[in-house]
Amino acid sequence: MFIPRELPTGVLVAESRDALASGAAEWIEGVVEEELEERSTCRLLLAGGQTPRAVYARLADAPEIEWDRCELWWGDERCVPPDHADSNFRMVNETLLQPLAARGVAPARVVRWLAERPPHEAAAQYEAELSAIATAAGRLVPRFDFVLLGMGADGHTASLFPRSPALAEEYRLAVANPLRGGQGTRLTVTWPLIEAARQVTVLIAGADKAQTLAAVMHGPLDLERLPIQRLLGHDEEVTWFLDADAARALSGLTNLNRL
Ligand code: 6PG
Repeated sequence: MFIPRELPTGVLVAESRDALASGAAEWIEGVVEEELEERSTCRLLLAGGQTPRAVYARLADAPEIEWDRCELWWGDERCVPPDHADSNFRMVNETLLQPLAARGVAPARVVRWLAERPPHEAAAQYEAELSAIATAAGRLVPRFDFVLLGMGADGHTASLFPRSPALAEEYRLAVANPLRGGQGTRLTVTWPLIEAARQVTVLIAGADKAQTLAAVMHGPLDLERLPIQRLLGHDEEVTWFLDADAARALSGLTNLNRL
């Protein structure tokens, strides 16, 4: 008989989507400040989709972040030009980079996927950039200081979709990942890169994610069906920022989990 798993340690629940965005932005600001006390550069891997928009918009106004010591990379991208409505680069550009530029601020480095190129070429180019920073650090896999991820209602994260070929990738850092049913191709970093990070924050909001999140947290492990479950093996490094709607099917929440 299966015994439902307990929640991981780092689960924080905000009462609204707005409070989630504010709490996550403050959290990220603190992470960046702490990292920059330890090292010269803070390397961030950003999430796409819609949930992070409000977080990035708040970070654009964060007075304390030393953006000139931060590098921004993307965990995944759609195979579209950078000005396309579906582009994750465009979303970050609109919510963060342009508002920063408007106040004369720019990150030390911004490394977008060249997603306007053929998928395998774009993936190879991004992997070359990732390998270069790994080699410079004497590593095979680059170690990001902070990784921000989301979760789809199907349990995917980045563009590591259920039963997609990229889930099994244990050597390459970035790949073109064909979606099932011929729904096109996405560009994504792989688990080795995510699992090497110092810190990972997962941002999940909305009632449409509640049942999937409960299955991820409490249900049997099935990394092909629910890829984001792979993060459950990294309790110390992973923090889950949820809004109340996304968390409503979870059990075992206490006041300690309240943002
Ligand atoms: C993307 C993201 C993807 C996203 C989830 C959640 O390119 O869409 O990287 O992994 O984080 O699909 O998306 P929402 O935040 O829009 O719900």
